[in-house]
Amino acid sequence: MTEKLPCHVAIIMDGNGRWAKGRKLPRIAGHRAGVETVRKVVRACGAKGIKVLTLFAFSSENWRRPKREVSLLMELFIRALQQEVKSLNKNNVRLRMIGDLSALPEKLQKLILKAQELTRNNTGLTLVIAANYGGRWDITQAARQIAQQVAAGELQPETIREETVQQFISISDLPEPDLFIRTGGEQRISNYLLWQLAYTELYFTETLWPDFDDTDFEVALASFAGRQRRFGRTGEQVENA
Ligand code: FPP
Repeated sequence: MTEKLPCHVAIIMDGNGRWAKGRKLPRIAGHRAGVETVRKVVRACGAKGIKVLTLFAFSSENWRRPKREVSLLMELFIRALQQEVKSLNKNNVRLRMIGDLSALPEKLQKLILKAQELTRNNTGLTLVIAANYGGRWDITQAARQIAQQVAAGELQPETIREETVQQFISISDLPEPDLFIRTGGEQRISNYLLWQLAYTELYFTETLWPDFDDTDFEVALASFAGRQRRFGRTGEQVENA
């Protein structure tokens, strides 16, 4: 049993391509298998009472992949949304998408808006999907909105605080990620939630995303439970608090 549970888990689901390659399958087969893992992790989060799960589905940089892989991925997202939304809704999951959605295929944009609308009042797990998302994009769009307010005379530059920036950053209405998990062996943030991860505990595993199962998730949660989060304070201050 894990006693200290993260409220918000953010994941980079890496290793689909290598999983497929190891089986002499096309890369998209790895992404398809990845969808199965998404299903399992969503279920596990719901069952444990984790409040927010944020998944990096497609980064701003993923457009650099071969055209065919990008279009197959978009088709996979469309199909996954079409197939899963009803069951997510039935399970009280609230779906949110973050990123520059305007660059996604129109059909996908429409499905996203519909799914968000349908699930907006659900009170269980909030499932955040980052699509065409980048941490630098996020900070840039916040800066743009702040500049617009300054230009309109609604905001004085000298009153801008961290909290001001925070307001415009994606998902700042949700608790910040407590635990970051990256599968697939790389130990980088790869332009994920740069602002939001400031105090997040980082966990890396060699396991490829399609192989990541309930036991792997338990191990990650146990690692989190064993850590002391100090937020700039000393260990003694935290222990005495
Ligand atoms: C990284 O593996 C994975 C992606 C860029 C896509 C992730 C997408 C899914 C898991 C599909 C399901 C998602 C949702 C939300 C329905 P990689 O291709 O970089 O793997 P590699 O490093 O082994 O090449």
